[in-house]
Amino acid sequence: MRTRSLALVALTTAGALALSACGGGREGTADDAAAGAADGFAEDAVIGVSLPWLGTQNWAEAESMFTAELTDAGFDPLVQAADNKVTQQQQQIEAMIERGAEVIVVGPIDGTQLGSVLERAAAEGIAVIGYDRLIENTTGVDGVVQFGSIRTGELQGQSLLDGLAARKGEPPYYVELFGGGPADPNAPSFFEGAMSVLQPKIDDGTLVVASGQTDFTQAATPDWDNAKAQARMDSLLSGFYSSDEIDGVLSPNDGIARAIMTSTEQAGQAIPVVTGLDAENESVVSVWEGEQWSTVAKPTQDLVARTVELIQALQQGEELPEPDESVDNGQKDVAVYLLDPVVVTQENAEEVFAEDADRLALLQ
Ligand code: BGC
Repeated sequence: MRTRSLALVALTTAGALALSACGGGREGTADDAAAGAADGFAEDAVIGVSLPWLGTQNWAEAESMFTAELTDAGFDPLVQAADNKVTQQQQQIEAMIERGAEVIVVGPIDGTQLGSVLERAAAEGIAVIGYDRLIENTTGVDGVVQFGSIRTGELQGQSLLDGLAARKGEPPYYVELFGGGPADPNAPSFFEGAMSVLQPKIDDGTLVVASGQTDFTQAATPDWDNAKAQARMDSLLSGFYSSDEIDGVLSPNDGIARAIMTSTEQAGQAIPVVTGLDAENESVVSVWEGEQWSTVAKPTQDLVARTVELIQALQQGEELPEPDESVDNGQKDVAVYLLDPVVVTQENAEEVFAEDADRLALLQ
């Protein structure tokens, strides 16, 4: 088991984690639920899935894969996406409670804004599973399934360094840093992971951030909005790169990576080394053609499959399995089920996508 930064607490006993994954206890009390008094629930139960938006490929994939896989498993899926609006997501979760969902899977827009609605769900004996993003500051969450977010950032940081060495000659390298949407708990973790690799290279002069914008708050991209990232890149280029060319950019995902490359192209600069995340189709093609340096694959099918396995365990009346780590979300220690992200470059793309026919077909 791994432990994560200060926010992490060691698991004491498996019992300490006895999850409120209670399933069937609609008539059971919250205390029964917390004690893991699981009786299972109907094989065709309603399962709610609340996604934050469909603005990046991974969430659109999650929408169709959850619908298909929950249906195949015999459940009655209610899958919705909330267009990045917190109130809309709260209302969708309310409606899932009303519909009698036994489990609600949530990818939160804002990790901290679902406390009361999820505590209501928990009090009704509904199990809540965080999907891809941590749910913070509430007791109403039983477990989270995600790709390691600090690990993802470390991979992005290391990949930026590797790309600079491969494509941009000798240091020093001029770079700029971008983060994701600050409400998403993944975004500061991606940045923290990346900076654990990059900060020592800034300190020793290998990397120069001409803007000096090295804090997450300066680098963040509100709402993960590609247009906002492109506008920031435009002003970084006109403000700091009129004489020196930019060599590389840390990008937290593929949409932002493409926005950054559009901006440098419009400024008449050579393509910098740019990282990414999600292995979106357009970026897989770009990596394959030698433009975007790298992306990080976190296959949606694996994340959805792991989540459905947990739902099936709950349906059978089992407790959730031993987690890979436990994280303090501000109110409780949450069980985290971790998958491993993988860096994709032109060099290893065929190997990484060997089992992914759709992406493999993009490598022409
Ligand atoms: C996900 C990324 C995605 C981003 C924006 C993050 O929480 O982990 O896969 O690109 O949200 O949608």
